[in-house]
Amino acid sequence: MIAATTHEKSTSSQPPLLRVRNLVAGYPKQANIFGGTKIVPAIHDLTFDIHRGETLAFVGESGSGKSTTGRAVLRLLPVASGSIEFEGQDIAQWGRRTPLDYRKQVQAVFQDPSASLNPRHLIAHSIELPLRRHGVSSAKERRRKIDWAIDMVGLQRDHLNRFPNELSGGQQQRVAIARALVLDPKLVVCDEAVSALDLSTQGQIINLLADLQDETGMSYLFIAHDLGLVRHIADRVGVMNQGHLVELGETESLFKNPQDEYTKRLLDATPASTPIGRDARRAARVAERERTRAELVSKA
Ligand SMILES: Nc1ncnc2c1ncn2[C@@H]1O[C@H](COP(=O)(O)OP(=O)(O)OP(=O)(O)O)[C@@H](O)[C@H]1O
Ligand SMILES: [Mg+2]
Repeated sequence: MIAATTHEKSTSSQPPLLRVRNLVAGYPKQANIFGGTKIVPAIHDLTFDIHRGETLAFVGESGSGKSTTGRAVLRLLPVASGSIEFEGQDIAQWGRRTPLDYRKQVQAVFQDPSASLNPRHLIAHSIELPLRRHGVSSAKERRRKIDWAIDMVGLQRDHLNRFPNELSGGQQQRVAIARALVLDPKLVVCDEAVSALDLSTQGQIINLLADLQDETGMSYLFIAHDLGLVRHIADRVGVMNQGHLVELGETESLFKNPQDEYTKRLLDATPASTPIGRDARRAARVAERERTRAELVSKA
């Protein structure tokens, strides 16, 4: 995977890609025997932005509302109040009829790749489905995009003719990423996307996500409970507690100088991780790519 250009994340002077204000969302509940439903809120008054090319992570204990926030952004849940603006358009009020274009531009990668891939579909078919759904009618064009995506996630073309159970967990998660990537999204919600993988595979997938971001300029809403991973990948971190966003800040300043009492307790409960800094990691990955390229050239 060799990048021609490296995208820089946008600065906060540009309008955000996603702008969430005072968001309240939750789960529908049958209110009475006459069939009325009401929303039982699971997240309260959330306000945050996601910039282009940025990774915003949400951390917090189990049940704090991280996945609910991701589902609300994906428009899989009703919004009780507040707004979600994507490129300046309020998408919170669209309900189930969310435009197809938004569904294309905002993709998701979840924890368990084997559950999100149909075991009876060849990998090629799983990656092709979203392209068909989003109206890419030329078979040649679909093929070109599938080949591009499979290359981008570091798999071989022959993986396309296999079934999910013929791949490792890490390879399956690469397929799930390819399936999101093939639609050229602007935002990907990664909900515990590496939590089910063993440690070394976690590292590979995290680096892959970071590389893909450098190359495509897409943004991530990265949901995780592993603070070490979050410190490694996120530009900014939001801390959730009981459905509220209690603190939001630049990753290193939040880890070094947490302001909120709950954040302090959360960090105290976690073994310290070594900060590397996003720029240094980026430089290391670019150097690694250059080395690989030089090796390939010398072997040719
Ligand atoms: N399908 C659902 N129906 C009703 N309530 C739900 C549903 N899913 C989650 N909740 C509730 O919403 C709240 C937030 O849950 P959520 O899944 O967002 O937490 P989380 O931070 O993602 O936790 P975890 O780290 O365990 O994944 C919890 O009180 C939970 O019980
Ligand atoms: Mg969750």
